[in-house]
Amino acid sequence: MRLGVLISGRGSNMQAIVQACQQGVVPNTTVAAVVANQQAATGVAWAAEQGLPTGVYPNKAYANRAAQEAAIIAFLQQQGVDAVCLAGYMRIVSPQFIAAFAGRVLNIHPSLLPRHGGPGMVGQAVHAAVLVAGDVETGCTIHWVTPTVDAGPIIVQQSVPVHPGDTVDTLAQRVLVEEHIAYPKALAMVAKGVVAPPAVVATL
Ligand code: GAR
Repeated sequence: MRLGVLISGRGSNMQAIVQACQQGVVPNTTVAAVVANQQAATGVAWAAEQGLPTGVYPNKAYANRAAQEAAIIAFLQQQGVDAVCLAGYMRIVSPQFIAAFAGRVLNIHPSLLPRHGGPGMVGQAVHAAVLVAGDVETGCTIHWVTPTVDAGPIIVQQSVPVHPGDTVDTLAQRVLVEEHIAYPKALAMVAKGVVAPPAVVATL
């Protein structure tokens, strides 16, 4: 597989994916491109230092999401990308984007979906919701992306306990450790053909 990884910030999951591919944890797979939709995404500098093709397509630079996605799709296709990892990418992708990669689009979410998913449930808001709900367990989910946000078929989930006195930050750190294991694990399953994407739901 040739992966395109989409980020919006730090990119620690992207780094874990790059390293897992280099180490053969994800067999026969390379990260062929890293894309950010924010100029301030610090993960892009790390990717460039690794010699990876990078592209920055700021939300603000485009009239609408369709125009931005068209530019991103063109760049990913130029790099020969055949599967896409959303890794802390804080913009919902369209059915047309998913179709451009034949449904081979994965996402990571920092909770045990279907708990605490859906539009607006990103980053710290997810961990805050776990604490408010009084959950005793949380975790992360890697799933196929479908047009319904955070509702695509689940590939891997890993759980962690919620401890008394946890804060959003302590919870985020505990979940992030599992995220860096779970994404490579899910990609290895895809690379080995253990799981396949759901049927494509739209055409360009
Ligand atoms: C990760 O915790 C990821 O699960 C979350 O953003 C963080 C990105 O960190 N994604 C979402 O909330 C998407 N709904 P990273 O940039 O260090 O990988």
